[in-house]
Amino acid sequence: MYRAIRIPPEKGEEIREKAVAGKFLDTTRKIRKIQTEKGTFLEIPVTEAAGETVEGFPVIEQEDIEFLKPPASLKEYLKGSLSETELAQVPSGWQVLGDIIIISIPDALDEKKLIIAEALLSMYPKCRSVVRDFGIEGQFRQPKRELLLGSSTETIHKEHGCFFKQDVTRVMYSKGNLEERKRMSRLGKGEVVVDMFAGIGYFSIPMAVHARPEKIISIEINPESFAYLKENIRLNHVEDIITPVLGDCAQAAPEGEVDRVIMGYVGTTHHYLEPAIKALKKSGGILHYHETVPENLARTRPEERIKIAAESLGKKAEVLETRRIKKYSPGVLHVVVDVRIFA
Ligand SMILES: C[S@@+](CC[C@H](N)C(=O)[O-])C[C@H]1O[C@@H](n2cnc3c(N)ncnc32)[C@H](O)[C@@H]1O
Repeated sequence: MYRAIRIPPEKGEEIREKAVAGKFLDTTRKIRKIQTEKGTFLEIPVTEAAGETVEGFPVIEQEDIEFLKPPASLKEYLKGSLSETELAQVPSGWQVLGDIIIISIPDALDEKKLIIAEALLSMYPKCRSVVRDFGIEGQFRQPKRELLLGSSTETIHKEHGCFFKQDVTRVMYSKGNLEERKRMSRLGKGEVVVDMFAGIGYFSIPMAVHARPEKIISIEINPESFAYLKENIRLNHVEDIITPVLGDCAQAAPEGEVDRVIMGYVGTTHHYLEPAIKALKKSGGILHYHETVPENLARTRPEERIKIAAESLGKKAEVLETRRIKKYSPGVLHVVVDVRIFA
């Protein structure tokens, strides 16, 4: 585990000097400023030698680690094992979820996949498996993946104070949606919310842990993701907030009950706009509507689809904000539109 202490900024220099003198400052990671619900802190990375507390500040496990020098590149590790032509095709990015590394390897490097997996495990000594990624498919958004090294594909990923247990070969977890998961953690306080495409709890869990709505109804159609959703509700101790529902949100969503609807699904999300609008209280509420859309239509098509659905139900729609989540494919964006629906 990577350790750190959180201290008030004004104590920064004094404690950093003590950490240097006591030889427990971890010089491979950044000292950084962080903002929490309790205010601004400095997070000082420390080694095991710090013990359990430093000057009365508890040693905690650090999340979202930032190294001062990035780990040596994968290509560096592979020099000598791969030809120059092969090295040129080695990927420069991969995903680390919990203790599992997920990497997409081009077909041309098929015969070198195990050497690449071994190099990755040497770069990340705390990881224990490497999985090859072939993309995501179908309504359930299931990944096609192959275990290259290690014995398990199940892990617990920690992010933003939440735990997400998952089998990386059975369910997806998009690194590009990190900011949106954090944003959801700041919304919904005291409200009734429905998460129509809950997955393993990508948005429901951070919202329940940090914003603590009165209730979140989290609907998921895929039994495998649903099993992890239930487990993540337990792991994060939010049983009193989240009610998990196995089913198709087009039928399972409540009617006239909620203040806010999360529609974190792409492809055919617009087909679900009517049940989403019907789920809102009579007085209205907020939709977070996701869509994958060609770049030149990002400002118009999602908004038009929402307005048509609202009008068909005798409601009005006011777009509050359209945010870009990530580039989905060449020329196509994944956007989320925040809309207020009212009578
Ligand atoms: C792609 S995931 C969400 C990914 C997530 N936003 C993230 O941050 O990584 C969408 C989930 O919606 C579920 N789903 C698809 N159609 C559904 C439906 N009609 N009703 C309920 N859940 C559905 C899929 O099984 C999947 O688990």
